Amino acid sequence: MGRPLGRAVTADPIAEIVAAREEARRRKDPHVDVCFLVTVGTGGRPEARPVSLRDVDADGFGMLINTHSPKWRQIEAGGQCSLTILWSSVERQYRVYGALRPMRAERLRFWWERKVLGSRLLEHYYEVYRPQSEPVASREEFLAGIAELGRRYPDAASVPPPAGLRGVCLWPTEIDVWHGSPADRLHDRRLFTRREDGWTFETLVP
Ligand SMILES: Cc1cc2nc3c(=O)[nH]c(=O)nc-3n(C[C@H](O)[C@H](O)[C@H](O)COP(=O)(O)O)c2cc1C
Repeated sequence: MGRPLGRAVTADPIAEIVAAREEARRRKDPHVDVCFLVTVGTGGRPEARPVSLRDVDADGFGMLINTHSPKWRQIEAGGQCSLTILWSSVERQYRVYGALRPMRAERLRFWWERKVLGSRLLEHYYEVYRPQSEPVASREEFLAGIAELGRRYPDAASVPPPAGLRGVCLWPTEIDVWHGSPADRLHDRRLFTRREDGWTFETLVP
C-alpha cells in the first residue's frame, strides 16, 4: 500500500495536505488534481462542481476560472465559496474555507502553458462565441466555433491566454481535515483554524 501517512497532529495542515497529495499521486488517485468548488447561486442555491486543483502552498489552493462563468459571477457578487477535496486512495477528505485571492502571475502563466490546444481554444470560445455554461444550438454549432478558432490558432503555442482567464487561490482560514479509518469507521477529524502565529486545531466528532 505504500508508505504510511502522518496523522493530522501537525502545526501546519497545508504541509499535511501537500504530503498526502504526493502519496495520492504515487498511488495514482484519479482525483489527485481535482477539488470541488462550492458557491452560492441565485436565491441562496448551493452549487458545487469539480475544478482542477493547481498549486497547494502558502498562497492557498489554486484554481483557474473564467470570468464568463456562472461561478465567477457568484463569487464576484460577494458570495462565499468553499472547497472540498477527496483523495480516497489515502483516505483523506479536506473541507477548506477562506477568501479568494489572485494567483501569482507567473503561476497563472505556468498553468496556461500546460493546457492542451483544445482547452486553450475553449477558453477563447467563451469570449468569442458564448460564455461557459450558456446554451448553444447544438454540439455541431459548438464544434464549428472551435474549428474556426483552430484555424486562427493552429497549435497550442499560438494561442494567447484570454483576458477572461483568472488564476485564484482560496487562502484558507479554516480546514476541516478527515482521516479515514476504514477498519473501524471511527475516523479522525480535526478542525484547523488559522491564528496570527500559525494554526490551532480542535478534534471533531467524525
Ligand atoms: C475533472 C474536472 C476538472 C475541471 N476543471 C475545471 C477548471 O479547472 N475550471 C473550470 O472552470 N471548470 C472546470 N471543470 C468544469 C466544471 O466542473 C463546470 O462544469 C464548469 O466550470 C461550469 O461551472 P459553472 O457553470 O458553475 O460556472 C472541470 C470538470 C471536471 C470534471
